[in-house]
Amino acid sequence: MERKLIHWRRNWLCHTVVSLSFVAIATLGMLGILGSIAPTSYASTISQAPNIIVYRSPECSCCGGWIKHLKTQGFSVQDFPTSDIEAVKQRYKVPDNLTSCHTAMINGYVIEGHVPANDIKRLLQEKSNVSGLSVPNMPVGTPGMEMGNRKDSFNVVSFNDKNAVAVFNHYAS
Ligand code: CU
Ligand code: CU
Repeated sequence: MERKLIHWRRNWLCHTVVSLSFVAIATLGMLGILGSIAPTSYASTISQAPNIIVYRSPECSCCGGWIKHLKTQGFSVQDFPTSDIEAVKQRYKVPDNLTSCHTAMINGYVIEGHVPANDIKRLLQEKSNVSGLSVPNMPVGTPGMEMGNRKDSFNVVSFNDKNAVAVFNHYAS
């Protein structure tokens, strides 16, 4: 009787050890899989070209210059020519005094005018709490507005839905 009990106990112990080690191996395996997946998916989101939607009037040639600039800077561009660019600016609440030629959308941010790609990248990286960025009007020397060696100094400004405007970056002439 006692022997049987010992045998049973041993069996039970053996069973427990086996199942515990199975759980441990499974957990480690899962962690390993997760660990190997996480860095790759992270890397692929980083390397993925940021997608930007650009609204512009069909006649705008400097808009094409800006789109080209974005593409060379690694953006994937969806180009939407529209005959009513003003309606787009109103829809995305671009402040009247900050308007330029084209209006673009990226990750929920509004990009108005000839904003350099590096400023857009910084905005996406910092995840700034603003509605978007603008380079008002069309300063000469901004991406897409090149005219020989002439370069105007200009500001990239940020804006929010309460019309608070701040200098995001300054380019000297
Ligand atoms: Cu323009
Ligand atoms: Cu434009």
